[in-house]
Amino acid sequence: LRPGDLEGQTVMVTAGPTREEIDPVRFISNHSSGRMGYAVARAARQRGARVILVSGPTGLAAPAGVERICVESARDMQAAVMEHVAGCAVVVKTAAVADYRPAERQGGKIKKQAAEMTLALVKNPDILAELGRLKKRPFLVGFAAETSRLEEYAARKLAEKNLDMIVANDVSLGDAGFNVDTNRALFLFRDGSRQECPLMSKDELANRILDQIAARLPAQRPR
Ligand code: C5P
Repeated sequence: LRPGDLEGQTVMVTAGPTREEIDPVRFISNHSSGRMGYAVARAARQRGARVILVSGPTGLAAPAGVERICVESARDMQAAVMEHVAGCAVVVKTAAVADYRPAERQGGKIKKQAAEMTLALVKNPDILAELGRLKKRPFLVGFAAETSRLEEYAARKLAEKNLDMIVANDVSLGDAGFNVDTNRALFLFRDGSRQECPLMSKDELANRILDQIAARLPAQRPR
């Protein structure tokens, strides 16, 4: 496995944060840099896959040969993912999708008011859970960034979102997760198996993730 082992497969990767606009000058977002997802997209392309990268706002250049679709909000990401998922053998959902968005986007800049103000938020669609409910489900890989009870929460997400694999990161560690070039992870699988990945570069971790996917895909045939 590795050189060319994803030839003939289409892999969708989502990456980066989403931005949820409050008014024309403000938004809610998070610390995701997009580096892990871009590493997965680059590695999948190097291994021969056709790669569709649905990316939230990042400062990163699109990896060579990757088809990038740039989006802003969770709902933009949902639309792009659902439009392109047919024909994908694999979806790797690295993106740190904002869980909530402002209930209303104000058309004009909100003016300073009293000492306290309240912003009403509503829940965003869970794109990965929606993919998990598809009749023709691609091989689905989710990410779980946690600061406690890593394995328990990740196992619950794997089951609840109907995933094939989940990559769990402890983001309370300084050398893993957001905005660094290294990561350590725990892989959990639908069949109950698990694998620990020690600290390594995000490029190498991307290849370890793809090793697991490639080994579990029916050869050359989209599911
Ligand atoms: O539930 P939680 O947000 O921790 O799950 C993380 C996983 O779910 C990631 O793979 C992320 O891309 C995906 N997700 C999503 N849509 C959301 C929230 C999370 O696709 N609204």
